[in-house]
Amino acid sequence: MSMATALDLNLRAEEPEDQAAIHDLTKRAFAPMPYADGDEQDLVDALRAAGALAISLVAESEGRVVGHVAFSPAVAADGASGWYALGPVSVEPEVQKTGIGSALINSGLDMLRHRNAAGCVLVGNPDYYHRFGFRPAPQCCPGGEPAEYYQLLPMGQPRPDGIIGFHPLFHAAQS
Ligand SMILES: CC(C)(COP(=O)(O)OP(=O)(O)OC[C@H]1O[C@@H](n2cnc3c(N)ncnc32)[C@H](O)[C@@H]1OP(=O)(O)O)[C@@H](O)C(=O)NCCC(=O)NCCS
Repeated sequence: MSMATALDLNLRAEEPEDQAAIHDLTKRAFAPMPYADGDEQDLVDALRAAGALAISLVAESEGRVVGHVAFSPAVAADGASGWYALGPVSVEPEVQKTGIGSALINSGLDMLRHRNAAGCVLVGNPDYYHRFGFRPAPQCCPGGEPAEYYQLLPMGQPRPDGIIGFHPLFHAAQS
């Protein structure tokens, strides 16, 4: 497979026929990661089955799915609406670090802004997500999540003080 370039990379919403490829890609991408739970691919499937894949984008190169990002509704403890969670996000190992993950994440965040989202949260490496505007927000981190990896990106409103939690399926996948 050739290295993906901006020229031959197509970002689009997932189609039903992408589901198996997304599952396998997610499994391959997370397999070498020490922080992986090993069931990230099942979480994507469970979110979809629950109607909670608010945004699911694939990156296609030469007809093959080489990247995927999922966004799901997040749960604000104060009842505020419009919060989303980013993840899982996966890029084919052989084409990682070529900008595919960034393109998917920026595209998904643009879609959230167009929906007038309140903001987005995630658990991930701050060194990576800082470039998209995510900042640590331990005061908003729900119990059971690693506060040092919890980050938040507000969209058009002040940073919240309250807990912004994940869809319950995230916890089901981790247990
Ligand atoms: C994380 C991931 C989606 C990033 O996608 P990508 O296409 O490789 O990333 P990009 O090309 O957009 O960005 C590359 C940059 O991200 C950094 N980066 C990639 N993965 C990183 C990670 N896990 N932690 C910190 N930095 C990371 C690279 O070092 C590089 O940094 P630089 O721009 O300063 O050189 C991809 O590496 C992946 O699928 N990893 C395995 C699954 C995973 O860990 N998902 C995220 C869990 S929070």
